[in-house]
Amino acid sequence: MKFFIDTANLDQIREAQALGVLDGVTTNPSLMAKEGITGKNNILKHYVDICNIVEGDVSAEVIATDFEGMIKEGEELAELHPQIVVKLPMIADGIKACKYFSDKGIKTNVTLVFSAGQALLAAKAGATYMSPFIGRLDDISTDGLDLISEIRLIYDNYGFETQILAASVRHTMHIMNCAKIGADVMTGPLSAIKGLLKHPLTDIGLAQFLTDYKKGN
Ligand code: E4P
Repeated sequence: MKFFIDTANLDQIREAQALGVLDGVTTNPSLMAKEGITGKNNILKHYVDICNIVEGDVSAEVIATDFEGMIKEGEELAELHPQIVVKLPMIADGIKACKYFSDKGIKTNVTLVFSAGQALLAAKAGATYMSPFIGRLDDISTDGLDLISEIRLIYDNYGFETQILAASVRHTMHIMNCAKIGADVMTGPLSAIKGLLKHPLTDIGLAQFLTDYKKGN
């Protein structure tokens, strides 16, 4: 299972990278705005800064919502750095753009997926990644994890190579449940990743080992 961090915060990206388990980064326009990164040139520079911190794929989202605009923006993003993945919205023109980029060998991430039908279309269009937003489904009392299971079944039925990128992960149990279902990738906040570290018996056991070591030395 790949671990992506879902942020545009460079300190958090560095911390996750230093942990040694990071496979990539996802961003979106809201995450960029949260870090105060505005204006096209600053945003493009920020993507390059992120690519220079991590070794894996970095999703960069297009703003255009029409086919021609997405192609223009996506090509510009892809040229920024070899690690860039063009992130496209799950709309008709986004699917057309996904097919265009996948035919050209440019990696894509189809985002804002909320149904298995949308996931099927993204796979048919050759998406590298397809992002179902599980937290936002949970927010409206619909089980986001059920969607991941449904998509896993469909992709396995036909051997689709599109990777299921469980997005809108909000906490550590989301990560664990996605791992059980077989999501290929999860993207979430640093806090959710660090939650995997925690167990009181680890802390108690370590404290005991250190105490016992001191007794004998
Ligand atoms: C995915 O790529 C999105 O950036 C993200 O996971 C959205 O998460 P949110 O629902 O917590 O905003």
